[in-house]
Amino acid sequence: MELWHIRGEQQLEGSCFVQGSKNASLPILAASILCPLRCELLHVPQLRDVDAALRILRHLGCKAEQSAGHVYIDSTQLSCSAIPHELMVEMRSSVIFMGALIARCGEARLSLPGGCQLGKRPIDLHLSALRQMGADIEENGDEISCRASHLHGAEILFPFPSVGATENAMLAACTARGETVIHGAAREPEIVALQMFLRSMGAAVGGAGTDTIRITGFQPKKHTACRIIPDRIVGATIACAAAASGGDVELKGVDPKHFSTVLYFLNQAGCDIISSTRSVRVRSAGKLYGIGALETAPYPGFPTDAQPVLMAALLKAKGQTVITENIFENRYRQVPELLRLGADISLDGREATIRGVERLRGSALTATDLRGGAAMIVAGLAAQGETVICDDGHITRGYEHFDRCLRSLGADVYLEY
Ligand code: EPZ
Repeated sequence: MELWHIRGEQQLEGSCFVQGSKNASLPILAASILCPLRCELLHVPQLRDVDAALRILRHLGCKAEQSAGHVYIDSTQLSCSAIPHELMVEMRSSVIFMGALIARCGEARLSLPGGCQLGKRPIDLHLSALRQMGADIEENGDEISCRASHLHGAEILFPFPSVGATENAMLAACTARGETVIHGAAREPEIVALQMFLRSMGAAVGGAGTDTIRITGFQPKKHTACRIIPDRIVGATIACAAAASGGDVELKGVDPKHFSTVLYFLNQAGCDIISSTRSVRVRSAGKLYGIGALETAPYPGFPTDAQPVLMAALLKAKGQTVITENIFENRYRQVPELLRLGADISLDGREATIRGVERLRGSALTATDLRGGAAMIVAGLAAQGETVICDDGHITRGYEHFDRCLRSLGADVYLEY
């Protein structure tokens, strides 16, 4: 159990480098087993989810080591195609090993993945894509068993641009015979990053970043290296923390285009946003303003992962904001906790209405999930007095040394283990 102690109402000021992306690292770690490969990954964040992926790789017979941001993987000795339940439930991304294992071994045995409880998180689109490529999949309760003597290319049409299903289909398609075309693909920067990595491994893949991805062949390489893209959601979280605290913060090493919708709404709320190619400065004039209406949507829309932290930044804004959450059915779990700080939020199905209050008061909170926990930190930074967040390891699944990062910007934050 971790306790975050936050003394709020300190303006955040200064600059900080943003960590590598968790959600780009995890599918790339799974992709490293597609062929016998030695690879080096740079700028990988040190997080519980990354550690879980490395443990899965080691279980499969690979060498997988992390030293600070540097990860080395040698998948030449992969010897197993089954992932035990206790490793699968540590995170959602374990399911991406399914596409990679069936591509490499012709079979995969695993169970349903874990991850944040954000409502129903089915994997029907993942399974349907693999079935269309010729995989024979049996589901028995939580157990999934996939087999394919050889995968073949297919025309896959996703009715919804699922990030994970797009990643699984891309991985499986690499070793399939013939061309695979994924229509209705997710367009997130993490998909483009996966394409870059697959190309560096020898895959002929194009179209990532649009809704149609084509995979036409694979000439496996023995070595590769890649640098993980910056984490746009951590960037968005620090930007919201700067805004909530009335601060002036420069985020270095980010790609502001990756979270331009978040920066747009912070600007609407009254912050100055000064962007360059590799950094962005968020300067709050003090008082923020409600931003009317916003809704979450698949990329390039407003990211669901940034919804809780933007909500937290707007708790003291003058006026009203109405958020519509369109991706997950249960992504307002932070709300009852934020109410304890004195926030005025009402929920009606997918809609949350935030009416700005003059003052938030520190309180004892419990982190509910990764981004909900981050939202509580943002709110705590804007609250009077001390906020203590009791967290069963949610926040450290996605934020690397976040207490140090905030302290370097002048926040009074201390993490007790
Ligand atoms: C990824 O999850 C991210 N996780 C999530 O980040 C993020 O919130 C989400 O994409 C949406 O942007 C990682 O990249 C590791 P989806 P994923 O499949 O792939 C429905 C965080 O905080 N769906 O795009 O699981 C699903 O129920 C995490 O870092 C199906 O119906 O998301 C949801 O409503 C949380 N059937 C919607 O699609 C399927 O087979 C989006 O899910 C798959 C998904």
